[in-house]
Amino acid sequence: MKYFKKIIGEFCYLSPINPDDASQYAEWLNDLEITKFLAISHHQLNIMRERAILEEMIKNNSQIFGIVDKKTDKLIGNCSLFDVNHRSRKAELGIFIGAKDYWNKGYGTEAVKLILDYGFNILNLQNIIIKVYEFNKRAIAVYQKAGFRIIGSRRESKIFSGKKYDEIYMDILATEFESVYVQKVMNRE
Ligand SMILES: CC(C)(COP(=O)(O)OP(=O)(O)OC[C@H]1O[C@@H](n2cnc3c(N)ncnc32)[C@H](O)[C@@H]1OP(=O)(O)O)[C@@H](O)C(=O)NCCC(=O)NCCS
Repeated sequence: MKYFKKIIGEFCYLSPINPDDASQYAEWLNDLEITKFLAISHHQLNIMRERAILEEMIKNNSQIFGIVDKKTDKLIGNCSLFDVNHRSRKAELGIFIGAKDYWNKGYGTEAVKLILDYGFNILNLQNIIIKVYEFNKRAIAVYQKAGFRIIGSRRESKIFSGKKYDEIYMDILATEFESVYVQKVMNRE
């Protein structure tokens, strides 16, 4: 079994990552159509390096998940909570769907809600932030649908292809989020 159903939604579930997926991640993370939205378009990633990164994350017990299509058990992307600060109960969220044929089909919105549920109702976080480039209109729409609100921006902090863009900061509090999975499980006898 490659994946495990840790947090389950209607279309997808979040699973612990599998280092055997290194070549799939390397393919996605060398695709500029995907990485132009991420902070890693300048990274040199090959399978060996990617496998080492995945193994390091597993060793460090990082809060990182594969996003898996529920119908086919196919890996379609990845999401994580990083810079987790348990004293102030805050973290930052990151996500990408690497399988581009899955874009705009509701998977991203559901995956964001699932990892928020994990962050707020299992890790007991209080505030989760996400940073997104101003040109990533789809991602901003997704985060707003999941309950994030814009709290500010870092001006002209992304320079790409000769143009300067703002980085938008969005956050959500535990009190603003309604559980989509964890509460359901808790209510079962
Ligand atoms: C961003 C991402 C996670 C979103 O996931 P997704 O599954 O494609 O998104 P969803 O289908 O859940 O929702 C997309 C929403 O954005 C809206 N949208 C799409 N393009 C848009 C645009 N140009 N302007 C405004 N809204 C847009 C859609 O209408 C949809 O909203 P609706 O369901 O209310 O109609 C995914 O596209 C992705 O991984 N992209 C590449 C990497 C990336 O951007 N990661 C995030 C970095 S911050």
